[in-house]
Amino acid sequence: MKTIAFYNLKGGVGKTATAVNMAWHAARWKHRTLLWDLDPQGAASFYLGVDQDNPGYKAGSLLKGKQPVGRLKRETRWPHLDVVPADISMRNADVKLAESGGGKNRLKELIAPFGESYELTLLDCPPTLSPLAESVFAAADYLFVPVIPTHLSLRAFEQVLDWIDGKKIKNLQVVPFFNMVDRRRDLHVQMLVKRPALMKNGLKTWIPYSTHVEQMGDHRAPVGEFAPYTPAAQAFRALWFEVLGRLKL
Ligand SMILES: Nc1ncnc2c1ncn2[C@@H]1O[C@H](COP(=O)(O)OP(=O)(O)O)[C@@H](O)[C@H]1O
Ligand SMILES: [Mg+2]
Repeated sequence: MKTIAFYNLKGGVGKTATAVNMAWHAARWKHRTLLWDLDPQGAASFYLGVDQDNPGYKAGSLLKGKQPVGRLKRETRWPHLDVVPADISMRNADVKLAESGGGKNRLKELIAPFGESYELTLLDCPPTLSPLAESVFAAADYLFVPVIPTHLSLRAFEQVLDWIDGKKIKNLQVVPFFNMVDRRRDLHVQMLVKRPALMKNGLKTWIPYSTHVEQMGDHRAPVGEFAPYTPAAQAFRALWFEVLGRLKL
């Protein structure tokens, strides 16, 4: 099993949108897929239609190891795609992981048993440089980082890289990609044409700025489901194949 995280210390850059679309593609290609929503806002759970059928279980207690993941796991309406939904009890995930003992490897330990049932686990992360992020870095094989082609967004990505460097995390591949690309903007075009050095290990595929991505909330579905022939859907499809090429599932 491979574990991939969608992470950035910046919010609103497309972590959730991408995680949901990648999970959907993985499942469509019949990989047994689990998305673990680690963000207390629960946007990924919402998009995948599993935010309301949570019969009193608290996602946060899962981190403490007080309840088996299997109890919280939900099937989605798509074959091969399950979700561990988030709720507001995830808001102090750091504290809960700490209480459970085991330090920054605790999340990795919680994920390990998924290997029996899944080929791919995706983590949709909240925007933070907290101990939760460290646990994610320890648990993931790949960290996919959406970056908007602006100087500030690149700077935030550089801060993530510096932080990871400082932590001496082993075996983590950090893979950025551009999201919300608007080719009417000169800066965006410049960054696509002459890729900043920071993006050199990045994916070639970029996701355009698209109203169809915003419409995921109306449809509560990945873009490929309700607008399959649009540039955004095609871009997510291409991104999936590039991701798959890296993962070698
Ligand atoms: N490529 C895109 N084009 C247009 N809107 C986008 C795109 N990617 C994300 N968004 C929108 O931007 C907002 C933030 O995206 P989201 O995936 O929730 O970011 P994050 O998880 O990083 O906070 C959402 O309203 C989403 O619909
Ligand atoms: Mg998000």
